[in-house]
Amino acid sequence: MIETIQWIDDAVVMIDQRRLPVEEKYVTCRTYQEVAVAIKDMVIRGAPAIGVAAAMGVALGVLHAPEGDLDAQFSAICGTLAQTRPTAVNLFWAIDRMKRLYGSLAGLPIASIRRTMIEEALRVRAEDIAICRAIGRNGAALVPDERTILTHCNAGALATAGYGTALGVIRAAVEAGKRVDVFADETRPFLQGARLTVWELQQDGIPTTLITDNMAGHFLKSGRIGCVVVGADRIAANGDVANKIGTYSVAVLARENNVPFFVAAPISTLDLTLASGDLIPIEQRAASEVTHVFGQPVAPAGAAVANPAFDVTPARYVSAIITERGVARAPYEDSLRRFAAAISARS
Ligand code: MRU
Repeated sequence: MIETIQWIDDAVVMIDQRRLPVEEKYVTCRTYQEVAVAIKDMVIRGAPAIGVAAAMGVALGVLHAPEGDLDAQFSAICGTLAQTRPTAVNLFWAIDRMKRLYGSLAGLPIASIRRTMIEEALRVRAEDIAICRAIGRNGAALVPDERTILTHCNAGALATAGYGTALGVIRAAVEAGKRVDVFADETRPFLQGARLTVWELQQDGIPTTLITDNMAGHFLKSGRIGCVVVGADRIAANGDVANKIGTYSVAVLARENNVPFFVAAPISTLDLTLASGDLIPIEQRAASEVTHVFGQPVAPAGAAVANPAFDVTPARYVSAIITERGVARAPYEDSLRRFAAAISARS
């Protein structure tokens, strides 16, 4: 399995997702500030992976903060990491989890605080892999046999601590003996589909065909696609789903062509504080991601550019939301709240 992010010798080591698939290089972060830069610059990306990175970043910050100034430093650490990317709620979920733990450790010797924070970050990582496996198991039954699955962006092992959410469902379907193949949208402008999803599925020997984003409608209409499975960055209480830009278009085209549209995500991607997807903050990224491809200009200098990194798919287009607790169906106000409550009752 690909190691997306690891804690090695008191440093956070991430595979550099900006360089894949051309080079398999690793970035080593020795400070929380370096972790923050790695998240912002998309060395690591994908909502659950961002959450794991944030938890490890907090642990790294606590490890190096001077004893006398720990509380003030802790706020700075959490504040810096929270400023990196606004849409994936897993970032804030992980920081909040680390904050709650830190609050409960007041008065303990600093060595024990440091050790406990590192152990918690490692637990966030280990749990994420187990959660992805459970999402896969729950979703595999929804995947039709001997059909093609369309996916958008990369919601795979690289977007999580391992195994993936949407790609976890596909992996689990294959492990269950289903004979499926995958169509991967290239996912302009950052090309997570072309660079990461195709690379990941190739490693597993799952037959995958790369298409450009504007081909999705053509293939959804053709009858070839049995279902769509995507990940999510934040899901509002009513089931509206923020995911990589272009997801909304795929969902509308899937509905038009009677193709089920599934979202696979952990409970930590739910944001039940938001009544609808209209309230989800959408990250705006640099114009150069649109005007340039691998450093080469593809637009005239001075072109006006819009680059929202995510869009929101209204819940009415979502056939089901696959979580580690089970498969949520509409009305999502009820089903998502029930699943989230089951988690908090256990924790
Ligand atoms: O900008 P990115 O690459 O972080 O966006 C990633 C996505 O939109 C994924 O689909 C989402 O985070 C789910 S990852 C399991």
